[in-house]
Amino acid sequence: MECKQPSECAKLINTKGEKMKKEYCVAILGATGAVGTRMIQQLEKSKVPVGELKLLASKKSAGMVRKVLGRNIAIQEADENSFDAVDIVLASAGGTVSKKLLPAAVNAGAVCIDNSSEWRLHDDVPLVVPEVNADELEKHHGIIGNPNCSTIQMVVALEPIRRAFGVKKIVVSTYQAAGGAGQSAIDELQAETSAYVLREKMHPKILPTKFGAKHYPLAFNLLPQIDAFDENGYTKEELKMIYETKKILCGDKNSSDINVTATCVRVPVMIGHGESVYFETADSELKPPTANDIRELLRKSPGIVIQDDISEQLYPQPLTAEGKTETFVGRIRVDLENPRAFNMWIVADNLLKGAATNAVQIAEELIARELLQ
Ligand SMILES: NC(=O)c1ccc[n+]([C@@H]2O[C@H](COP(=O)([O-])OP(=O)(O)OC[C@H]3O[C@@H](n4cnc5c(N)ncnc54)[C@H](OP(=O)(O)O)[C@@H]3O)[C@@H](O)[C@H]2O)c1
Repeated sequence: MECKQPSECAKLINTKGEKMKKEYCVAILGATGAVGTRMIQQLEKSKVPVGELKLLASKKSAGMVRKVLGRNIAIQEADENSFDAVDIVLASAGGTVSKKLLPAAVNAGAVCIDNSSEWRLHDDVPLVVPEVNADELEKHHGIIGNPNCSTIQMVVALEPIRRAFGVKKIVVSTYQAAGGAGQSAIDELQAETSAYVLREKMHPKILPTKFGAKHYPLAFNLLPQIDAFDENGYTKEELKMIYETKKILCGDKNSSDINVTATCVRVPVMIGHGESVYFETADSELKPPTANDIRELLRKSPGIVIQDDISEQLYPQPLTAEGKTETFVGRIRVDLENPRAFNMWIVADNLLKGAATNAVQIAEELIARELLQ
C-alpha cells in the first residue's frame, strides 16, 4: 500500500460539515524490530488518523506481509525514495539508517520521530517527552528526537519534582532489560536461559554490544556495560542519560543547573527497565518536602502510577510493568542524612513508554498542535 500524492495522504475525510479531520500517511522505519512492532500496535490504538501506512525495514524483510488496521501491508526495503508523500516517519532502525535516510525523508516533506540516538543532541532537534516538554515541538525542523528509554522514564518522574521543589543533583543506577538491545538480545537471553537450566554451553553473540570484541552471557548474570565505552570511562548509554536529561529538564545538554551521573547495568530481564534514582531537591528557605509530599505530587502527575505501599509489599516490577504504557514509581524515601534528598525506584516498559508509546504520543501532539504542515 503506497502513498500516491500528498493530497491523497492528508485528505479530508469528513464531508458532512462536522469538524474536518485529516488522514496522514505514516511510515514505520524498522517495522519488524522490537520497537517497530510496538509502534505498529501503539499506532493502531492511537488518535493518529492513519490514511496510508508504509512498513519499511531491511532487504531481509522485504515482501513479508503484516496485517495492520485490518489491511495486509507488504514490508518494503527502505531507501531514500521511500518517503514520497509521507507525512510522519516513526523511525526505529538504528542510528546508521536514521543518519542516512531521515534527511531524505525531511526533504520529501515528512516529519520524523527518531528512536535512535543519532540526532537527539543536535541543537536544532527537539528531544521530547510529551508529559515534560511538549512545547519544544514548536521548534522542530523536521526531525524530533525520541529520548533514550532509560532517560524517558526518569524524566517523567523527576519533572514534577523539579517544577515543585527544584532538583540540583541526580544519581541514577539502571537495571536494564535485554529488550533494550533489540529483538536479537531477547532471543539470546531466552536461548541462554534454556541452556543454563539444561547445563549446556551458552553462546553469547549480541551482548553487551553487538559489534564489541567480547560477548558475555546475560542469563543469571549482570553486565555493567551498555553500549560502547567512551574514553572518559563512561559507557555511551551512561552519557546519553546525562546529556539527554540535562537537555530535557534544563533545555541545554551542557547545563550545570542539575548535576547528573549514571551507572547503567544490563540485567537478565526480558522487558522493563528498573532504575534506582537518588535526587537532591534545591536549597530553600522553606521546609523540605516529605516523602509523602513527593508521593502525592507524583500521584497527580501525568503518565505516572504510584506503587508505593511497603505494608503491602507494593512496588514497581518489570513483570507487572510489561505491556503497560505508564511509568511506575515506588520506594520513595528520604535520605536519612539529608532531609532534602530522596531515593526512589522507577520501572517502565522500555519498548512502550521508553520507545513506541512516547513516539506515538509525539505524533499525536504534532497533529493536535498542527505542526505537520
Ligand atoms: N529496544 C529498546 O528498548 C529501545 C528503546 C528506545 C530506543 N531504541 C532504539 O530504537 C532502534 C531500534 O531498536 P530495536 O530494539 O527495535 O532493534 P531491533 O529489534 O534490532 O530492530 C531493528 C529494526 O531495524 C531494521 N533495520 C535494520 N537495518 C536496516 C536497514 N539497513 N534499513 C532499514 N531497516 C533496517 C530491522 O529490519 P530487519 O528485520 O529487516 O533487519 C528492524 O526492523 C535503535 O536505534 C535503538 O537504539 C530501542
